[in-house]
Amino acid sequence: MKKLQLLFCAFLLSGSITTVYAQQNSRKQQMTELANKTLDLAVRQYKQMMQHVPDSVLPRTTNNADGSMVTAKTNWWTAGFYPGTLWYLFEYSKDNTLKEEAIKRTAQVEKEKNNKGTHDLGFMLYCSSGNAYRITKDPKYKEILLTSARSLSTRFNPTVGCIKSWDHGKWQFPVIIDNMMNLELLTWATRVSKDPSFDRIARTHANTTIKNHYRPDYSSYHVIGYDTTTGAVVARNTAQGANDTSAWSRGQAWGLYGYTMMFRETKDKAYLEQAKHIADYILGHPRMPEDLIPYWDYDAPGIPNAKRDASAGAVAASALLELSRYTKGDVSARYWKAGENMLESLASPAYLAKEGENNNFILMHSVGSIPHNSEVDVPLTYADYYFVEALLRYKQWAK
Ligand code: GLY
Repeated sequence: MKKLQLLFCAFLLSGSITTVYAQQNSRKQQMTELANKTLDLAVRQYKQMMQHVPDSVLPRTTNNADGSMVTAKTNWWTAGFYPGTLWYLFEYSKDNTLKEEAIKRTAQVEKEKNNKGTHDLGFMLYCSSGNAYRITKDPKYKEILLTSARSLSTRFNPTVGCIKSWDHGKWQFPVIIDNMMNLELLTWATRVSKDPSFDRIARTHANTTIKNHYRPDYSSYHVIGYDTTTGAVVARNTAQGANDTSAWSRGQAWGLYGYTMMFRETKDKAYLEQAKHIADYILGHPRMPEDLIPYWDYDAPGIPNAKRDASAGAVAASALLELSRYTKGDVSARYWKAGENMLESLASPAYLAKEGENNNFILMHSVGSIPHNSEVDVPLTYADYYFVEALLRYKQWAK
C-alpha cells in the first residue's frame, strides 16, 4: 500500500514538474517571437532613420514643440548610441546597409577619443568602437579604444579615488552615478593591453562609489561633490532627480548595470552583492509600477501621474537579464522574470513606436531631465540602444 502511495506521489510530482517546464518553454517561445518581431521592426525603423540624419550630426531625441528630430554633435554624451545600435542591429539582421552606416557613424565619433573634457568616453566610444571591434575584430578600433581609455584615465584623481564627471557646475570635483557605465572601457583596456592601471582605476572608482553614492537602503545619490585636497565628500546632490535625497530612476539603473558589469569584468563578489542590493531596491520599491517601467524618479511628485522613463526600464532590463546569470535558484529566476517582463512592457504598444513614426526611434516615453524641462516624454537614442541590447541578450540567454 505504502509503495502504491509513493508511486502515486511521484506520478503527481513528475506531472507538476512537466507542467512547470511546459509553461517556461511556452513563455520563452512567446518572448523569443516577440523579441524577433520587435528587432525586425527596429531594423526597419533604423533603415528609415539612416536616410534623414545629416552626416555632421547624430540622432538624439525629438523636439516636443514641433515633432522634429533633435540631433547632437559628436562631443555630446549620447553620440555613440546611434552607431552602437546600428552595430547591434547589423549583428541581428546581417544587413550590410546597416553595417555600412555603422562604420560611417563610428568613424564620425572617433575623434572624441582625444576628448579629455568629459567622463562620457565609455558611452561615446565603447558603444560605438567597442561594438565595432567586438563584431569586426578590425585592429583600428582597438587603437581608438585604447586611446579613449588613456584620455578617460586622465580624469582620475587618486586622492578622491574617482574619475571626475563634469568640468561644469557648482562642484569642485563632481562624480555622478552614471559614471559607473564608463568603467567597462577601462577593464577592457587592461585585458587587451595588459596595462593594469586602467583596471585599477575602474575598481577604485567602483569602490569609492559604493562607499559614497549609496544610502543604507541601496538607493543612490545622483551627484557627489568631493574635495580634491582631502578626498572628503562635501556635497550630496541631484542634477536630474526630483531632489537631493530622491532616487532618480535612470541613476538607479546605471548603478545596477554598472555593478553587474563590474562583477562580470572582475569577478569581485562585492560588486555582485552591490548589484543584487540595487536590484532588490528597485524591484521591491512600493512605487515601482505594475508594468515595471519606472516613473522618472521613484520619489517623483504626482505619482501615479508622473512621467515614466522607458530608458531607465531598458537599462534595468538589460542589467537584470545579465545579473540573473550570476545568481542561482529563485533569486536568479526573479531577476530573469523581471527583465523579461520589462522587455514585454517596452515591446507593447504602450512604449513601442509604430513603424514610420517617432522619428524612427524605437521607443517612446523616456525622460532626459525634468528639472531642466529637457527631453520630457520623448524618444531617446540610449533608450533604443539598451532596449536592443536587452532583446539580443534575451535571445542569447533565454533558458
Ligand atoms: N548620463 C546622463 C543621463 O543619464 O541623463
